Amino acid sequence: MPTQASGETPAAPPIAWRRKDLLGLEELTREEILTVLDQASGFKEISTRSIKKAPTLRGKVVLTLFYEPSTRTRASFSLAAQRLSADVQELDLDASSAKKGETLVDTARNLRAMGVDVFVIRHQQAGAPALLARSVDSSVINAGDGTHEHPTQGLLDLFTMREKLGNLKGRKVALVGDITHSRVARSNIWGLLKLGAEVGVVGPKTLIPGALKELGVRIHYHLDEVLGHYDVFNILRIQLERQGAGLFPGMREYNLHYGIDERRLARMKPDVLIMHPGPINRGVEISHGVADGRNSVILEQVSNGVAVRMAVLALVQSAREGK
Ligand code: CP
Repeated sequence: MPTQASGETPAAPPIAWRRKDLLGLEELTREEILTVLDQASGFKEISTRSIKKAPTLRGKVVLTLFYEPSTRTRASFSLAAQRLSADVQELDLDASSAKKGETLVDTARNLRAMGVDVFVIRHQQAGAPALLARSVDSSVINAGDGTHEHPTQGLLDLFTMREKLGNLKGRKVALVGDITHSRVARSNIWGLLKLGAEVGVVGPKTLIPGALKELGVRIHYHLDEVLGHYDVFNILRIQLERQGAGLFPGMREYNLHYGIDERRLARMKPDVLIMHPGPINRGVEISHGVADGRNSVILEQVSNGVAVRMAVLALVQSAREGK
């Protein structure tokens, strides 16, 4: 639990959290989401201290298992665990026995036998973190699984929006880009709907699942028609690896219809929030000027990610210990 601003004693706020794992926002209640965000607010203060440490996870072992590349999420989890005084290990999968054919479950069981309390896993297969959570009694946190979910990205996005806008009920949030293949979009949509926001998605027809309408999500194919409607534009990375798959004509075409540049920013609400989970393709889905401009909160998202991950680490460990 977060330490008090004044000292080292863990606070004991009422919490609605009993899960040893965080696998997605789809299964969380509104109260559980708010619990994470409230805990993260407490933890954010620690990051402003000259000595950025709290004793919450002293003696615990956190291990990151990233089967896909990452800059932000992996570093953020490691820093979050270190700030909570955990012992942190980043497994180098290129130099691990996964290369010799060891299964994910065997890898995790062996690491558990060495005392790992919390696994943080990113995997190309949707459902891999859930499999792990059933296979070990450690806590498991999903750091992105296939096209399924990226729950801590969703939570840090919600945290940043709530910090800037207050209560998200009735706020209008658009996600722009490749919704079909985006785990960030899925986690954002579940979280935003549970907090009462109006959610829209914007992009080419080939990159938007029509079934979203049944969840109450608004679907737009023409960005220019909705620029003035939304309070937040969360711009997704156009996945360069999908170019050539016939899902959109090309980068220039995508930029022409869906790129957020100064011209489009000028037609948005003056205090609109521009968000992006990173990594950014500058000049494709977002221009330099908008990414670095006054409406952008992209680097604040990254900073908030550490506090949100501290909250998640503390909550799952606390639930696992039955506290
Ligand atoms: N937003 C995000 O998941 O970034 P990384 O891939 O760098 O972790």
